[in-house]
Amino acid sequence: MTEDRGKPAKAWSGVFTEATDSRMERFSESVSFDKRMYEQDIRGSIGHARMLADVGLLQREEFESIERELNAIKDRIEQGDFEFSFALEDIHMHVEKALIDKLGDVGRKLHTARSRNDQVSTDFRLWIRDAIDNLDVLLAELQKAFVGRCDGDFDVVIPAYTHTQRAQPVLAPHVWLAYVEKLQRDRERLADCRKRVNALSLGSAACAGTSLPIDRTKTAEYLGFESIVANSVDASSDRDFATEFAYDMTQIAIHLSGWAEDWIWQSTVEFGFLKLPQSFCTGSSIMPQKVNPDVLELIRGKTARVAGNLQSLLMLTKGIPLAYNRDLQEDKEPVFDSYDAVSASLALAAPIAAQTVLNRETIAERLDKGYLDATSLMEYLIRKGVPQRSAHGIVGRLVRRGIESGKALSEFPLETFREASEFVDENVYDYLGAVNAVKAMKSYGSTAPDQVRFQIDAWKKRLGL
Ligand code: ARG
Repeated sequence: MTEDRGKPAKAWSGVFTEATDSRMERFSESVSFDKRMYEQDIRGSIGHARMLADVGLLQREEFESIERELNAIKDRIEQGDFEFSFALEDIHMHVEKALIDKLGDVGRKLHTARSRNDQVSTDFRLWIRDAIDNLDVLLAELQKAFVGRCDGDFDVVIPAYTHTQRAQPVLAPHVWLAYVEKLQRDRERLADCRKRVNALSLGSAACAGTSLPIDRTKTAEYLGFESIVANSVDASSDRDFATEFAYDMTQIAIHLSGWAEDWIWQSTVEFGFLKLPQSFCTGSSIMPQKVNPDVLELIRGKTARVAGNLQSLLMLTKGIPLAYNRDLQEDKEPVFDSYDAVSASLALAAPIAAQTVLNRETIAERLDKGYLDATSLMEYLIRKGVPQRSAHGIVGRLVRRGIESGKALSEFPLETFREASEFVDENVYDYLGAVNAVKAMKSYGSTAPDQVRFQIDAWKKRLGL
């Protein structure tokens, strides 16, 4: 980035009699980060110019040379053969100046019926639309990683926790699919956000529209926008689409952080349920035995900046008056930063989710500790006609006896059960123990093996597996 290149005249300098202070240029530039939208800026300009030619504001040959030169500028940027300068403020000015350097007056026509206010909104909408499509692919890949391991883990029963205390036994794939459901809602949220992102701002010009005979329907068609922002003051003034996207990314990060947390503690020596792939762990420079879950910790940690970026956008747009204000230039870095954090996290989550191994023996050894089958016994009594509150009390007292005598419920003789309740039969043992408790499940959405099988198959179909 150069400080200036012999001070090019500003595109807006007509009314000015004083040169811009270089401290001001440095402070107000956005090209250092909005150059990331160069492709969208050029795509947007080509769509705009094509429409200008359709309505006769450009000659067909003028459009063709503009299109050719814009594509050449894109190639130069991609090859690193393009000079960026703070003096030219933003990516829009850079591309336009490069075009004018090549085409002279023809290049000077590109900005007809357009302002940077509607241009920047258009570029950002195109960028976010691309980002949403990329995130959807990454989310689907992570879903596939979880669904892909369900068959192999189908016979593994693990404890489900509430309050981080052992609660009820479930099939491992039931837990994997819990993550898949959350990721699906994240995808749906993005798809919904995409509808509001995918509206054309261009043609709103600075804030009032234009007296020139433009055709916004054509621009929308050329740029693949599904709708057209209907009010020119609204178009240049709002970034709600970006804030919504930032929230959707925050929710993804929050979901990933919960999963990361689960797998961090489940891979400790204390738990020993999971073995994380070493290729995604690091060692310690002082403790030779350490295999640390750094990637999961960073996924959890990056949630902070993603949530902070959402907060930035909310505060940025609070109390912003109509219509465009320069404050809005501050909207891009938080969105880019969240996207980088979330897309990188998703890309690493998928191989970790696929390659982590369940320590079946450790899980099985400890499975019948913690009275995971207590609710199963309570529901057994309810089926026999015992009111739920009474059944709860009976089982609670039995569990207390178990704790005192160091026994699991399944180790009690039948007389103990019958002393507690006359309704207990020999078949009670079919409902005791974590594995039996899972088999006894029935309700839709439960961990009943046929329910889980049904859901796995449905997800495979949905994800094309
Ligand atoms: N760099 C500016 C932004 O990101 C572009 C729009 C500037 N428009 C203006 N009237 N100064 O918002």
